[in-house]
Amino acid sequence: MSFRIQPAAPARPNRCQLFGPGSRPAIFEKMAASAADVINLDLEDSVAPDDKPEARKNIIQAIGDVDWGSKTLSVRINGLDTPYWYRDVVDLLENASDRLDQIMIPKAGCAGDIYAVDALVTAIESAKGRTKPISFEVIIESAAGIAHVEEIAAASPRMEAMSLGAADFAASMGMQTTGIGGTQEDYYMIREGVKHWSDPWHWAQAAIVAACRTHGVLPVDGPFGDFSDDEGFVAQAKRSATLGMVGKWAIHPKQVALANEVFTPSDAAVSEAREILAAMEKAKAEGAGATVYKGRLVDIASIKQAEVIVKQAELLAG
Ligand code: COA
Ligand code: MG
Repeated sequence: MSFRIQPAAPARPNRCQLFGPGSRPAIFEKMAASAADVINLDLEDSVAPDDKPEARKNIIQAIGDVDWGSKTLSVRINGLDTPYWYRDVVDLLENASDRLDQIMIPKAGCAGDIYAVDALVTAIESAKGRTKPISFEVIIESAAGIAHVEEIAAASPRMEAMSLGAADFAASMGMQTTGIGGTQEDYYMIREGVKHWSDPWHWAQAAIVAACRTHGVLPVDGPFGDFSDDEGFVAQAKRSATLGMVGKWAIHPKQVALANEVFTPSDAAVSEAREILAAMEKAKAEGAGATVYKGRLVDIASIKQAEVIVKQAELLAG
C-alpha cells in the first residue's frame, strides 16, 4: 500500500437503488414502502421532454410529503448536454425540503461536469441557507465517462456513489447490443466447438470499482432491463458483488429483493469470515503470520478480505 491510506466509502447501505419516473407520482408511496436502501426519483430518460416541468413539481412535493423512512433519497437530474439540467438543480435546491439527500448526475464525462453542478449547488445552498449539504452520485455511461472515470470519482467532496449505466454506455461505445446489461449472445469464445460466454461489462465495472475504492466512493451496478429474467439479474448482481460493487439498481420493484439478497453477505459467508479472523488471531498469538484454515492458506491479507465481509454485515445489521 502506498503511504496514503485508501479512504473509506460512505458507511451506509446501498444494496439496491429503486428507480421511478418523476412523471408517475402514483408509485412514489410504493417506492417509499419498498425494501430498497436508496430511492432514485427520475427527471431524466424515463420522463418525456414535455413532462419535465410537471415531474419536477411532483418530485419536489413528494420529497416533503412522503415518509421516506431512513432511505437515501436521490433525484436523477438531466444530463449536462440538455437544456433541462440547470432548472432541475435550481428548482430542487430552492424548493425541495431538507429530506433530499443526493443528486444523481447522469452521463458524467469529465471532472468538469461535476464541478459545474457543484458550483451551482454550492451557490444555491449558500443563498438559501441550506445547512445539509447535498451529496452527489454519478452514472458512468459513455466512452468519455469510462476514459475519465478516476478524475470523476475524485471531482468533488460531495461524491458518494458511482454507477455503471449499461445501455447508454453500450450505445456510446458503439457496442452491438440492444439489451440493458446481462449476457450478450455474441460475446463468446469457442473451445472444442462449444461456446463459452464472457462478460462484456466486466472491464468497465472493474475500472469503476478501482476509481471508487481509490477515492472513497461507493461502486454500484446499474440497471438490468429484462425484469422478467430473475436468474439473469442475480447472475449479473453476483458478478458485480464479486468484483467489489456494493449494490445494483432496480428498475422494477420485483428486483429489489433479488439485489438485497445478493448484496447482503450470507450467514455462511460471515461465519467463515469470522472463523478466518479467529484463526489468524490464534496464529498471531503463536507468533505466526500465516496459518491453515480448512486446508488452505490464510495470512495477513486474508484478515483484510474477511474484514470486508464482516464490516459489511455489521453495517447492514446496524
Ligand atoms: N417502484 C415502485 N412500484 C412500482 C414501480 C417502481 N418503479 N414500477 C411499478 N410499480 C408497481 C406498480 O404500480 C404495480 O403496483 P400495484 O400492484 O399496486 O398495481 C406493481 O408495481 C407491478 O407493476 P407492473 O404492472 O409489473 O409494472 P408497470 O407496467 O406498472 O411498470 C415499468 C413497469 C418498467 C414501466 C416501471 O416499473 C418503471 O417505470 N420502472 C422505472 C423506470 C425508470 O425509472 N427508469 C429509469 C432508470 S433506468
Ligand atoms: Mg442512461
